Amino acid sequence: MKTESSSLAVMEWYLTAGVDEIVGETPVDRLNKPDIAETPLPAPQIAASAPVFAPASLPAPASVSAATAELAAKAATLDELRAAMESFDGCALKQTAANLVFADGNPAADLMIVGEAPGAEEDKKGLPFVGASGHLLDLMLKSVGRDRTNVYISNVVSWRPPNNRKPSEDEIALLTPFIKRHIALVHPKILLLLGGSAVSALIGIKDGITRTRGRWLTYRDGDVSIPAFASFHPAFLLRSPAQKKAAWRDFLTVAQALNQN
Ligand code: URA
Repeated sequence: MKTESSSLAVMEWYLTAGVDEIVGETPVDRLNKPDIAETPLPAPQIAASAPVFAPASLPAPASVSAATAELAAKAATLDELRAAMESFDGCALKQTAANLVFADGNPAADLMIVGEAPGAEEDKKGLPFVGASGHLLDLMLKSVGRDRTNVYISNVVSWRPPNNRKPSEDEIALLTPFIKRHIALVHPKILLLLGGSAVSALIGIKDGITRTRGRWLTYRDGDVSIPAFASFHPAFLLRSPAQKKAAWRDFLTVAQALNQN
């Protein structure tokens, strides 16, 4: 007869053998189990009406980004680009986002700022940088004599990733042709890239923003060549306020360069 102490001893022995989870109440004799082929798998229980957001249903990223590049290239104006993006259904992020976050500010401005991806507030309003990090961005712009009447603002990714997660490399690769066309149509004098995602998508440097910030870079895409400056993303500055000083110096550098031209 099993005693309480012998059951405990068996449990301890299981634990030392690495068994830390109970998966069923009935013991299974695995040495005498039926052939796998004889045991049909239950049919997947997916409701016919369940929305399919699976990125797996998309073609491979390289071919999709060729498709976005073709679509973006056809846009001759910002309105056409916005319309092309609104009609584009090849990005799973669009299914979970409330709005396309295209741009804000003055498209005739000499400075274009590019961030990473919209957050919750941006998604609600359909405008970039209108949440907490947008508030900080506005303050930083104000400190160098700028506001949304004389800057133009957009993002690498124009639909909010669920739960504000970082956009994946595939999502960025898929959507980069849109922001590249956006930049070509605006053709600002200077691009200010906020955060590592913008620098890596548009310049191709993946060193991390701490190493690339505070430096003049060159954005190149076909015939387009624009001086670009990298700085910290305002969301990072909210978490690391000690870096605000360096970011303010970056904004001053950019503002001075624009004032000289
Ligand atoms: N962060 C970004 O990169 N872009 C926004 O529009 C908002 C937050």
